[in-house]
Amino acid sequence: MSTGKEKDMLCFFINGKKVREDHADPETMLLSFLREKLRLTGTKYGCGGGGCGACTVMVSRYQPATKTIIHYSANACLLPLCQLHGAAVTTVEGIGSTKTRIHPVQERIAKAHGSQCGFCTPGMVMSMYALLRNKPHPTMEDITQALAGNLCRCTGYRPIVDGCRTFCQEANCCQANGAGDCCLNGEGSTDESEHEKPQLFDKEEFLPLDPTQELIFPPELILMAETGNPETLTFCGERMRWVSPASLEELVQLKASNPKAPLVMGNTNIGPDIKFKGVLHPLIISPTRVMELFEVTQTPQGVWVGAGCSLSEVRSLLQKLVPQFPEEKTELFRALIQQLGNLGSQQIRNVASLGGNIMSAYPNSDLNPVLAAGNCKLSVISTGGRREVPLNPDFFVSFGKTILKPEEIVVSVFVPFSRKGEFVRAFRQAPRKESSFATVTTAMRVFFSEGSRVVRDVSIYYGGMGPTTVSATKTCAALVTRPWDDETLSRAYDVLLDELVLPPSAPGGKVEFRRSLTLSFLFKFNLEVLQKLREMNVVTDVLPEKMQIQPLPREIQPSLQEFQHVSKDQSVQDPVGRPIMHRSAISQATGEAVYCDDIPRTDGELFLVLVTSSRAHAKITGLDVSEALRLPGVVDVITAKDIPGKKVRTMFGYHEELLAESEVSCIGQMICAVVADTRAHAKRGAAAVKISYEDLPDPVFTIEEATEKSSFFEPRRVIRRGNVTEAFETVDQLYEGEIRMGGQEHFYMETQSMLVVPVGEETEFKVYVSTQWPTSTQDAIAETLDIPSNRVTCHVKRMGGAFGGKVTKTAVLASITSVAAWKTNRAVRCVLERGEDMLITGGRHPILAKYKVGFMNDGRIVAADIEYYTNAGNTVDESVLVVEKILLHMDNAYNIPNLQGRAAACRTNLPSNTAFRGFGVPQSIMVVENMVNDVAVVLGRPADQIREINMYKGPSVTHYKFEFSPENMLRCWEECKVKADYSARRRAVDQFNQQNRWKKRGMSIIPIKYGIAFAESFLNQAAALVHIYKDGSVLVTHGGTEMGQGIHTKMQQVASRELRIPPSKIYISETSTNTVPNTCPSAASFGTDANGMAVKNACQTLYQRLEPVRQKDPKGSWESWVNAAFFEKISLSATGFYRGPDLYMDWDKMEGQPYAYFTFGACCCEVELDCLTGDYRTVRTDIVVDIGRSVNPSVDIGQIEGAFMQGLGLYTLEELKFSPSGLLYTRGPSQYKIPAVCDVPLRFNVYLLSDSHNPHAIYSSKGIGEPVLFLGSSVFFAIKDAVAAARAESGLVGPFSLDSPATPERACLACASLFTQKIPASKPGSYKPWALNI
Ligand SMILES: Cc1cc2nc3c(=O)[nH]c(=O)nc-3n(C[C@H](O)[C@H](O)[C@H](O)COP(=O)(O)OP(=O)(O)OC[C@H]3O[C@@H](n4cnc5c(N)ncnc54)[C@H](O)[C@@H]3O)c2cc1C
Ligand code: FES
Ligand code: FES
Repeated sequence: MSTGKEKDMLCFFINGKKVREDHADPETMLLSFLREKLRLTGTKYGCGGGGCGACTVMVSRYQPATKTIIHYSANACLLPLCQLHGAAVTTVEGIGSTKTRIHPVQERIAKAHGSQCGFCTPGMVMSMYALLRNKPHPTMEDITQALAGNLCRCTGYRPIVDGCRTFCQEANCCQANGAGDCCLNGEGSTDESEHEKPQLFDKEEFLPLDPTQELIFPPELILMAETGNPETLTFCGERMRWVSPASLEELVQLKASNPKAPLVMGNTNIGPDIKFKGVLHPLIISPTRVMELFEVTQTPQGVWVGAGCSLSEVRSLLQKLVPQFPEEKTELFRALIQQLGNLGSQQIRNVASLGGNIMSAYPNSDLNPVLAAGNCKLSVISTGGRREVPLNPDFFVSFGKTILKPEEIVVSVFVPFSRKGEFVRAFRQAPRKESSFATVTTAMRVFFSEGSRVVRDVSIYYGGMGPTTVSATKTCAALVTRPWDDETLSRAYDVLLDELVLPPSAPGGKVEFRRSLTLSFLFKFNLEVLQKLREMNVVTDVLPEKMQIQPLPREIQPSLQEFQHVSKDQSVQDPVGRPIMHRSAISQATGEAVYCDDIPRTDGELFLVLVTSSRAHAKITGLDVSEALRLPGVVDVITAKDIPGKKVRTMFGYHEELLAESEVSCIGQMICAVVADTRAHAKRGAAAVKISYEDLPDPVFTIEEATEKSSFFEPRRVIRRGNVTEAFETVDQLYEGEIRMGGQEHFYMETQSMLVVPVGEETEFKVYVSTQWPTSTQDAIAETLDIPSNRVTCHVKRMGGAFGGKVTKTAVLASITSVAAWKTNRAVRCVLERGEDMLITGGRHPILAKYKVGFMNDGRIVAADIEYYTNAGNTVDESVLVVEKILLHMDNAYNIPNLQGRAAACRTNLPSNTAFRGFGVPQSIMVVENMVNDVAVVLGRPADQIREINMYKGPSVTHYKFEFSPENMLRCWEECKVKADYSARRRAVDQFNQQNRWKKRGMSIIPIKYGIAFAESFLNQAAALVHIYKDGSVLVTHGGTEMGQGIHTKMQQVASRELRIPPSKIYISETSTNTVPNTCPSAASFGTDANGMAVKNACQTLYQRLEPVRQKDPKGSWESWVNAAFFEKISLSATGFYRGPDLYMDWDKMEGQPYAYFTFGACCCEVELDCLTGDYRTVRTDIVVDIGRSVNPSVDIGQIEGAFMQGLGLYTLEELKFSPSGLLYTRGPSQYKIPAVCDVPLRFNVYLLSDSHNPHAIYSSKGIGEPVLFLGSSVFFAIKDAVAAARAESGLVGPFSLDSPATPERACLACASLFTQKIPASKPGSYKPWALNI
């Protein structure tokens, strides 16, 4: 069988415009086509694997059979271009723009403050847009489902949800803008003053949604579909051929002659394989035009569903069928609907096919256990004819393999009706509630003899318990023919425990947890079956209410954001203190905002891909680049030898090589870089570089290994006040504990990106780079190239998030890229893929802390001695500074008279960790809060009481002799208790726990005291440059960089106030080293404080200069004054400077003034925990923060919510996993889970403390970027509280250890239920665990 003609023309539409492509390459995904070929850069790259939603577009297709047009969201990164023949694609640019008209979705997300760095915004917009095209009046459930697969690292999702909520009719009442309880349910406040509270946005000004304004589906495509010649289509690329047959017969022939060629439907399995595993398929068969694969046929026994149907289509089909039949017939249908609702994201379900899911045979497929337990069967076809194959225990052979022959094609899947007395249920547990592969997934079906509890038939399948979907056949045998009662079930648990055994080093880890889940799910099934049997009057005893399990709550409620009005006397034109939208939010929502990789290619531009070490500790014995250099498009390979200047960066006396020359000290260390004409060619070149190594002995990975071998970065630090040793002698009680806290990946949505352009003369370079510290990048490049800094100009327009990760690591990457640009004399771009970024750049330091605490029986903590060990990785980076900050914050809110801390940065053979929002504080405070919690547990007192007893009160002095007033901290604490209705809810929680055996609620309230500014005094400075042009427009430049935190918006507000002109006359283009030199990093929550003062200073200078012209013409306008000033030769350009406080810390004397002031806050969280699975939901969060007089409440509340959610991720969700040889496993959103919409507290209230003033910062405000991250730990402590309640049911009281993050695995195991206790723990040391405990 030939594979069709040589080549066809690919024809489809993008944003209403026809695209004809006669060189469609099957390896090209829509995302790169949009971005690189069409220059539609609104659609973003965030992960390339369907896991982040940044690339969401809408695809529309005409279906000739039904004569309807369907619209669905999809991930452009996994959509093969060739798959789009005949489709219409809508991107963010296609729905609205600032040049024409913005779309209501774009407007509402922007104006509701749902866009900070904006990198996720186009994806959010498109997910919501696709929903509205199908359902103009969605429910909240529709909205949260539509957004479930879109990650945002900045906002905390609440404002995005609130913007989208305005489309939702059920919510279009007073609650829509978070104004409190809903007027519709009668709980709304009638108090006038409530309605006068300032609001973050005014929904009255929103454009209405008008579906008639949307792009129409191109009639040409309808014609094409109706009359098109059904011929085989063929597309050829450099390495791949794509054939799309038009009939089943052709498909069968094609597959028979090319049995190894995959059938690509949704490409959600094949695509990631090609991209991440480097699999090459010379031929791809695309059966999407074969009608038989999409047919649905109903029979008296059930329904045959075409294997090509998408999972979304299967779900809607079943949803349509369910109400048409008696309940007893649709047990399987409903189990499938439920499981399909939790599988992947909407975008994945919209393209992933039923047949694809079955044939991918993932070990943790959610569908296969249900289909198999439900006795489904497949109709398969090949040249040998058709046959039916049951999905039974023999079907799944091994990882990714089934019993079908390679040439067989699944045409359809039979889903039978259930029978009377038959029950089917599916359960799953995943690291994150939504958009996450399951840890364990299961389906169970039982069929009873009529009117009896005797089991006639039963089937149980699990996913996640081995390399394939597995049948618990022996367990089924233990159930069948027996009565469904406690005795049978109890035997079944034992059989199951023996039947599904995982070796202790099983891939994926979590062995005890997974095994306990198999039991818990059977128990849950038991409860549901008993309920059914009761309904059928087969069983008469009543299940005590306490034993019942209802699902966790999930509906996101309206929330409150309270802040103070500006004073009545403030001019209406003065924007300071008002909730002004992020100045780029609209451009970000339309996709017009330009990020580094959106800059158009320059002529001859090259792309750089790094080659990294595959060994943790080894000598490099050979580097062979010859094969790489022979590959098409490869121009050069850059090694350390090519560096003309400094080959190392030096910090704290330690050298860090830019590119390793003779030795490597971690997997992921950069060794060389390949430059080529395209990204794809550079990637292939990098894969062809051959490096040989000689392993060095004893790599160090864990903190324990490092301490044992004294592998530290010096200096280690100690701080002390009082005398702990003596104090320990005097206390009533002593307690010793420890806590381990995992690291965290920055997961900025925009990966590290840079473009270095040689100007072409006098070694001058223009550098466009996504960095928080342009000056450091400039310095690093100059040193590396051995040129003066004045030849390097760094430009930062904006970053798609940074969080501390775009300081030191970016400088190293930019230096390497600049060597390539210098050597080739061509522009070179480097944009890391998500996996590379995660592998190379490190993150937050994991820590291990050990403490000894002495306290009195009345709750007073008298002494504490704490040791902290951080895992710093292979280079020192900023680790010593992190260690210092840990010690400076070790007291948090507590006045502990005798306090001693020792901290060390451990040197290990893991990628080097670096700065991350909070810079050690989130780790430090976690330890002291955990310690205080332990004291409370030991004393049997509520933790909030022990916290209160020990808090600083009155004029206070920290352990480093810094004087401060804790008054506002105590106000935040008290106000938080009131706003959260703490006492009443605490009682309700206790009551809930008495009434529920398997679900527990937990509550906690946590304070924070966070030091602002740099202890390194020289960093507390800033400069600005302000130009007034003759037309009156103003250009402000300052040293701060925009990473989503809204610094440019705030600077615009400052300039507006000082110059007394509207913000619309003020523009901020970028941060650049040739306008404002020698800047400091945008970090330490100090950006606005420092740069605000500099901008203020420059504007005041200019305003004063204009005074003479104003006096001459007091009635004149701004423009007339400016114009007059020009003619009077008054300079209209000024610099501003801010010399910040002289802070210091003397580590020898253990005292200092390392901060300008403290930001205070308190947070109360309540969670509901499913003790059988560890799943939890944050049901409510109330945060009160003292940020002085907010310069911009919407921006500040955005920072608070975003930081809280990042903290929630840190303390409860995000887990970095390393292999025993030091390789990071978690290199993308599929393995590493950051919070998604499903993690937002169901009520999420934020209050800014009123009447607070801060003499130390601009306009009496306070820094807020980092502090609230720690308050995410309130969720951790609420989980711990719930776990304690669960343990009490098992008779376990007293302190227990729960490490951070409190993942479902840890929470579930800590609950020590009867199921977890059944699992024998593997003996440490007797096996090699799958992952390191670093
Ligand atoms: C981000 C992400 C999240 C995910 N989350 C989940 C999850 O939570 N739970 C879960 O179960 N799955 C999940 N998946 C997996 C996803 O459901 C499967 O990849 C998908 O169903 C495969 O279908 P497809 O059409 O995309 O397959 P493709 O990638 O197009 O093809 C996959 C394989 O199936 C074969 N094949 C396809 N159709 C047929 C046919 N008709 N006959 C014979 N062989 C065929 C192909 O030859 C190929 O080998 C996720 C995937 C991604 C990318
Ligand atoms: S880039 Fe496509 S989903 Fe992340
Ligand atoms: S605004 Fe969502 S990732 Fe930055």
